[in-house]
Amino acid sequence: MVKIKLTTKVDSDVLVVGIGLKNKRLHIEPGSAQIDTNSLESTLTSMGVTGAADEVFKLPGKSTKLIVFTGLGNLDEPLSSETLRRAAGAAARNLAGNKAATFALPHKSVFELAAIAEGAALGAYTFTEFMGSKKSEQKAPLSQITVLSKFSDTNQAKDAIKRAEVIAEQTALVRDLINTPPSHLTPDSFCLRIKKEATKYGVKVEILNELALKKGGYGGIIGVGQGSANPPRLLRVSYTPSKFSKRFAFVGKGITFDTGGLALKPAQGMEAMKSDMSGAAAVIGAIFAIAQLKIPVAIDSWAPLAENMVSDTATRPSDVISIYGGKTVEVLNPDAEGRLVLADALIRAAEVGKKSGGLDGIVDVATLTGAQVVALGTRTSAVMTNNEAFSDQFLSAANIAGESFWPMPLPVELRASLDSPIADLANIGDRSGGMLVAGLFLKEFIDPQTPWLHLDIAGPAFNDKDAHGYTPVGGTGVALRSLVTLAELAVSQASKQ
Ligand code: BES
Ligand code: MN
Ligand code: ZN
Repeated sequence: MVKIKLTTKVDSDVLVVGIGLKNKRLHIEPGSAQIDTNSLESTLTSMGVTGAADEVFKLPGKSTKLIVFTGLGNLDEPLSSETLRRAAGAAARNLAGNKAATFALPHKSVFELAAIAEGAALGAYTFTEFMGSKKSEQKAPLSQITVLSKFSDTNQAKDAIKRAEVIAEQTALVRDLINTPPSHLTPDSFCLRIKKEATKYGVKVEILNELALKKGGYGGIIGVGQGSANPPRLLRVSYTPSKFSKRFAFVGKGITFDTGGLALKPAQGMEAMKSDMSGAAAVIGAIFAIAQLKIPVAIDSWAPLAENMVSDTATRPSDVISIYGGKTVEVLNPDAEGRLVLADALIRAAEVGKKSGGLDGIVDVATLTGAQVVALGTRTSAVMTNNEAFSDQFLSAANIAGESFWPMPLPVELRASLDSPIADLANIGDRSGGMLVAGLFLKEFIDPQTPWLHLDIAGPAFNDKDAHGYTPVGGTGVALRSLVTLAELAVSQASKQ
């Protein structure tokens, strides 16, 4: 686990400073570190350094063993906190093998300081659990991050680095869960791992096994999980502080592996479907972070977990299943499984929320559709909603957190494509607008009075290209930061009312 501290003077062997382009010339931004930039700028220019984002360049230093330049890009415009977060992350990633580093990036506020601390901590992540004989050769990530800041003595700065530690710790948990292969992560082992983690945070855990799910009428989770030797689960983690101003439910898609079922996916790329539980991991990581930060909101995080497999017991195209609460669904395509497990969990989450006094909002998080990736690419997630104000609040949270989300519509005219001649609903509709059709399917399981967000993170959840900024290869942990920030925003809004 990475530790972060503040300082007003450089105290490690490694010093990280910013570099970028100002008036078309290479310019070093050493924050409050004292370095002779003039001669260095021309040397670095001769060496071909450009200062572009994601460029990290190391030189032997004078007062430190190593001086590390991390690209900030164009310095003629004001630096965004996300640029700082990414630059710190890129440097931290490139410093694996070193123990400690001091980050002297420029910042004008504690908010920007927080971004630097967070980016550095998020970049200090590696996943080596399954390296067998190669394990000893792997470089350990940075474990001590120091941020050089003139705000070091303020309480706000101290809170900010605590928060960054928590965000990094829980993001690492989310990434670990995503990266863990399905041979080692089943619905049951996911639950056991979370149950063990949960003891640290004073949250409550409830697990429904396959018998309880059958008895309770969770036809979506059972239907998707019935083709697998690893039976499904419904995991609930609850955080109820003694005082709270809002109550939310988070629901995350937890398919520990998605083969497509009898609508078998092509072999090429199927391996990435170990990430189909990213939504579940994100909602659990978020509630752990919220509990650690003692944010006064009550949260229930729900993870419907199943493995979507091919077998003689798998759901057949044309099977009809009964979602929790009684709505029937004709399963025309067993590869549209996420919406089925989410439907059960959404109804249950609303029922439990109602009993405990009503939900202020329900948010589902899912690697739901390939159409999301087609529409928005691999770095921007989608938000769909039945409540514009809630969506706007979430989008500001995402913006503050430095995660890219974009609003998408739920056009009523697409709804009819989900009609089934024999059941209440079919699980697939029009192919065009597939992301929106999936959102409309989920909307059928939402009480119109409850503000609801559907986050489709299919592209951004898993990075199968190169690492960049604070984002490693593999699980990214996307949505966690936005959910935590949403909880913080909801509290500050409530206190103003
Ligand atoms: N888990 C997939 C969606 C997905 C695709 C996530 C690519 C991440 C990357 C989901 O279960 C799925 O298979 N969706 C189908 C739905 C279709 C059958 C209506 C899809 O998008 O093709
Ligand atoms: Mn699928
Ligand atoms: Zn899936």
